[in-house]
This record gives sequence, C-alpha cells and structure tokens, in this order.
Amino acid sequence: MGMFENLIKGNLPHYTRKIRHIRQLLRHSTPRKLANLAKAEWSLSRGHVVLQSKPYIYIIDPCNACDLRCPLCPTGARTLNRSTRMMSLECFQGLIDQVKPYAVEIILYSWGEPFLHPQIFDMVRYAQKNNIGTNISSHFNHITDEMIDRIIDSGLENISISLDGVSQEVYQVYRVNGKVDDVISGIRRLQLRKKERKSRTPNVEWQFIVMKHNEHEIPQAEKLARDLEVEQFRLLGVGLPFEELTNQTLAEQWISDTPEYRGYHPEKILQRGYLYDESCFYPFRTLVINPDGGVAPCCAISHEQWDFGDVHKESLWDIWNNRKYQSARSLFSRHPVAERVPTVCDGCLLYNQKSPFPRSENSTDSSQSSRVQDPVLG
Ligand SMILES: C[S@@+](CC[C@H](N)C(=O)[O-])C[C@H]1O[C@@H](n2cnc3c(N)ncnc32)[C@H](O)[C@@H]1O
Ligand code: SF4
Ligand code: SF4
Repeated sequence: MGMFENLIKGNLPHYTRKIRHIRQLLRHSTPRKLANLAKAEWSLSRGHVVLQSKPYIYIIDPCNACDLRCPLCPTGARTLNRSTRMMSLECFQGLIDQVKPYAVEIILYSWGEPFLHPQIFDMVRYAQKNNIGTNISSHFNHITDEMIDRIIDSGLENISISLDGVSQEVYQVYRVNGKVDDVISGIRRLQLRKKERKSRTPNVEWQFIVMKHNEHEIPQAEKLARDLEVEQFRLLGVGLPFEELTNQTLAEQWISDTPEYRGYHPEKILQRGYLYDESCFYPFRTLVINPDGGVAPCCAISHEQWDFGDVHKESLWDIWNNRKYQSARSLFSRHPVAERVPTVCDGCLLYNQKSPFPRSENSTDSSQSSRVQDPVLG
C-alpha cells in the first residue's frame, strides 16, 4: 500500500510521526519533489524493479560512534561489523547537493550518537538551507547550554530524545553509562531556551522504549513529559537486532508482557514467517548512507558485508538501480529481474515476501502495523 493510500486510511504506524512526515512534506515540497514522490509511490504500488524515481527520504548517518552501551543496539553491543567513522562535512554536502531536488526529509542518525559529530550543526544547517527537513534522535547526555543554542540556531526541525525511564536505577538497565538527570536537565533547558528565544524548533519528542524492566515508570514519565512541555511523548515496544529476530531468550528478557508493546516479539514471526504483513517500502522510498559511504538497504541492517554499494566508488543513482536493488525489489514484485543476485533481503523476516505487488486490499493487517513502530522512520 502506498503512502497516499496509507495516509487516507490512517494506517501509518504512529500518529505523532505521521504528523511529522506530513509537516515536512508541506514545508519542503516543490513541484519536482512531489512529482518524484508520486512516481516513487506508483512504482511501490506496482512493484517496479527498475525505478525512474529517486528516493525521497534519506537516512545519512554522520557518525556510528557512541558513548553508551545499549545491549540490543549493535553499536552499544560492539557487533556493528563496520569501522567506527565520522562522515566528513564535504562528503555530506556533496550528498546533499545530489539529493536536494528529491529529498523531502533527511534522518541524521542510524547507528551512533549524532551529537558526537563535531560538525553536526553545520550538517543540519546545510540540509535546512537546501530546503530539506531535518530529524535527529539522541540519547541527550552531556548537552551543554552552548549546544542547546547551537541546536536552535541550526534550524533542526525534529529531535527525538531516547529516554526509557525516570529513575537512574531503571534508565541505566538499557542506557548503560547514561545519566538520567543529565538527560532530563537537557530537555528542561532546551524547552526553556526555546521559549526565551521564541523558537518553535526543534519539535521535541520524548521516545520511551517500553521494556520489561521500565514499564512501571510509564505513568511517572508521562507526568514528567507534561511538566517538561515536550511536544510529543511516544511509547515504542522494544525491538530485537536483525540477526536475533527469533531469539526467544532475548525476547523473554526484554520484551514486555503487555500486548501493545509486544509488536516485535518472535512469536509473530515464528507463527507466520514474517513480522509486517506488507511488502517492504525501503528499496522504493529510502536511501541509507553510512558514515563510511556504504549504502545499506534499510536502517535495520548494519553489517558492511550486506551493503548495496559505496558512494565513494559509484554514483548514487547507479547504486539505486543496481543489480542488488533490483533483486531486492523483485522479492516483492511479480515483475521479473534481469539478473538476480543474493542480498540480505532474501529471507528477511521483517516483511511478507509471499504477497508481492500489486497487493490485494485484504492483505493488510492493520492491527499488526498499529502495534509495531519503526524507531527510525516511524
Ligand atoms: C541506534 S539509535 C541512534 C540514535 C541515538 N544514539 C539514540 O539512541 O537515540 C536509533 C534509534 O533506535 C532506538 N533504539 C535503540 N535500541 C532500540 C531497540 N532495542 N528497539 C527499538 N528501538 C531502539 C533509539 O532509541 C533511537 O531512537
Ligand atoms: S545511545 Fe543510541 S547509538 Fe548509542 S548504544 Fe544506545 S541506541 Fe545505540
Ligand atoms: S527486505 Fe528486509 S533487509 Fe531488505 S530492505 Fe526491507 S527490511 Fe531491509
């Protein structure tokens, strides 16, 4: 199902993020971007394997280093299988120059802490200057007053702050090495400074990942969110790493028993063979570029060995229609592909490869999609 149909039917996974995507579309669209988006959505709904359209959402990871050790994050667990790098400002600007005719929004994080990049604010400013909406997710530890002013000055539109608890004891179970008071103080100071400077941006979302050990703190967190006057409070069921999607032991340890936060539980995958009863949209809408220039098919994939290309070696648009992209799209399509090559998408447990495009109306299981929210795209 395409984005337009989803919007009309109210089927996108989460209300707050839906508003965010629409707002960026309204703010940053041009006739050319809209025409490209319509073409991309048409190709998605038809299951084309060679695309005339370009991606309209870009995930560009400035930095895959992090000072926290979240156990289910490959960066925190040290299982990323990619060298730790900072993307240079020049590389970032070169990418923006290529994608700006098509990009509605850019997501400036994937596998690291974006505020560790010394030129993150220049990156945000450059994207904004080129009429692209900007989004960051951060653990928000060690945020100084000077950084708060720089965040506001950069024009950053949306920030999602990862804060999964209100007491240090509970917070540090997942955000290992993080300090809860530091994060709360950072949010308080950001909201205050926005008021003082009469700035509406960045829009602040408190993202609370619900896990077994922190669920009891949700009511206190909601109360604090109101007190801090964050613009959104978002609850999200915890996910397991791509390679561990069917790991029952990990699920037992981390995933809540409350049905609405069990969206990523292996029981769904083991029952029906996939998590989302829909075809994957990433190879039609989104391009993911890592700090080393490696292009991954989506934000679930971190290993370098599964890259679809390298922006330092090939042109962006050659990569977008290369054999790997065509093969990945063909998994969700009835159209043949000229030369199939194996990719990480073969056997991916996230999307239903048995119901290729064009889809039947009855095949959407919206009760599932409303329970499962993508932490990056939402
Ligand atoms: C890898 S992090 C990078 C950005 C930043 N370091 C942060 O944590 O916000 C990207 C997103 O994944 C979320 N995340 C981390 N572990 C997760 C998990 N096990 N399930 C779902 N989302 C998770 C983070 O909260 C963040 O929103
Ligand atoms: S703070 Fe973000 S990047 Fe760092 S380990 Fe945790 S989830 Fe991963
Ligand atoms: S099929 Fe799976 S691995 Fe491939 S892009 Fe989609 S979610 Fe990622």
